[in-house]
Amino acid sequence: MTQDPEMLRQTIISWFAASRKQILTAMAAPLDVATKSNRNDLVTNVDKANQQFLIGKIREAYPEAGIIGEEGHEHDDTDLAGLVFFVDPIDGTMNFVKQQAHFAIMIGVYQDGEPVVGAIMDVMRNEVLSGGPMIPVTHAGQQVKVLPDLPLKDGLLGVNGPMTIKNRLHLGDIALTSSGARMSGSAGMEFIEIALGRQIGYVSYLQPWDVAAGMAITKGLGVVFSREDGAPINLQQPGVVVAATPKAHQTILTMMADGGKEA
Ligand code: IPD
Ligand code: CA
Ligand code: CA
Ligand code: CA
Repeated sequence: MTQDPEMLRQTIISWFAASRKQILTAMAAPLDVATKSNRNDLVTNVDKANQQFLIGKIREAYPEAGIIGEEGHEHDDTDLAGLVFFVDPIDGTMNFVKQQAHFAIMIGVYQDGEPVVGAIMDVMRNEVLSGGPMIPVTHAGQQVKVLPDLPLKDGLLGVNGPMTIKNRLHLGDIALTSSGARMSGSAGMEFIEIALGRQIGYVSYLQPWDVAAGMAITKGLGVVFSREDGAPINLQQPGVVVAATPKAHQTILTMMADGGKEA
């Protein structure tokens, strides 16, 4: 089944608009917050409700599609054959709970493992970044340009907090080599910063639904994606994601392999 990526983009944006209204309404009442794997791994009634809403919309419009979503596993489908929707109903749940801001809704759509379209909504700003290999990347309706290939030392780098603090994979040293490290608490917000040229990259440990939308959108802008050893991102497994301009990406991988030393 061939999809029209532009139509798919518009459909997802219309779902996001409806999600946003429901999220803002739900935020007016106290949140029901629960922990998952540890005390910092939260889920709220809003994450669950928005995932159910988006799954319902996908099932209605694309009954054949597979769905890989973060919350609730009744419809999970880990086979990447055909059309697959990666859904993160609230990305940055900790921010959502603690800040009521700096969180996103994300959907990445892939056909037989190849990107078709990605969409990330900054809910509180009411702005959507979207695009894909066959359609232009837009942010809040404005076309986004291909990024300059800045080296690591000339840009801000988004980083995973614990990995950086523990200097895992020498990420602390790598962060020090950049113009400055940023930790936003939302992978979606990091990809928006990269697409708009405000950061040269992002390094974190991510689940498939954390990276699918951002990768579909920003590869065409010149962002290179890989695991820490240079292997391609496998959307069936979690793992380290190094996403950056080609020059910065090369330096990051070299520093990870060479004990934190710049080549
Ligand atoms: C999290 C955020 C965070 C990243 C975590 C993710 P969630 O997503 O994207 O920035 O560091 O690894 O799990 O759980 O809030 O959707
Ligand atoms: Ca989560
Ligand atoms: Ca997430
Ligand atoms: Ca989430």
